[in-house]
Amino acid sequence: MTLVSGLKSRNTGVLGRAFGGNAIGDRGTDHVKIADLLLILKNACLDFRYGGRFLAGSRKTRFAEAGAEDTANSSYAELGALFGDRIGERDVIVDVGCGKGRVFNWLLSRGRANRMIGIELDPEIAEGCRRRLRTYTNIRIITGNILENVPDNGTIFYLFNPFHEMVMRSFAEELKRSYQRNKREITVIYSNCLFCHVFEEDPRWIVTPLEAGLRLPAAIIRIRPESI
Ligand SMILES: C[S@@+](CC[C@H](N)C(=O)[O-])C[C@H]1O[C@@H](n2cnc3c(N)ncnc32)[C@H](O)[C@@H]1O
Repeated sequence: MTLVSGLKSRNTGVLGRAFGGNAIGDRGTDHVKIADLLLILKNACLDFRYGGRFLAGSRKTRFAEAGAEDTANSSYAELGALFGDRIGERDVIVDVGCGKGRVFNWLLSRGRANRMIGIELDPEIAEGCRRRLRTYTNIRIITGNILENVPDNGTIFYLFNPFHEMVMRSFAEELKRSYQRNKREITVIYSNCLFCHVFEEDPRWIVTPLEAGLRLPAAIIRIRPESI
């Protein structure tokens, strides 16, 4: 049995799309509550604090033929539970398909000075993110396909449902190749993990579901060092 079955991505609803998809999307548009508006305000404050731009809203991908998902934002409210206490001072954090870069805003807001690398397939979105975060010298945004750009120094790889299953399979293989080039601890934090079975089916990965009050399914995936 797989961790996720029959699950659909939930970046739905007009307000959901307008204000970052998963922040309030599945509560519907008719019953927007004060709590939702406060959440939007809180998100906007974090957006402006790091990079001076409101990042809300999803954008349809121009790279569907490459298996890409639309650009949507992780929910600030969930990142605490996703990253937990998994970040050490020396970790190099990679956002696979970094989109507009909200994850970096959140990490900065937590005082994280780690090296951070964002890989983004869409050149316009990558450029916007690079420009927005240009004053943070610990952050590098690379325009390109993760399949050709897996950083061999990356230790934490964050994914928020960036692409389809075939790409996920290739990514898992590329990550193992990267491990062979540079043996190190690798942790994948996979949010909205629609294709978690790709890792579950491969004994070289250890998959642990994350259940701590998250709205979307997520898993922590680690490479099994002795098996490669
Ligand atoms: C759902 S968004 C997530 C954005 C960001 N990680 C976050 O959590 O806020 C997924 C992003 O992955 C990008 N993407 C899709 N396929 C990719 C690939 N093969 N290499 C790099 N980025 C990719 C998409 O263009 C999109 O911006």
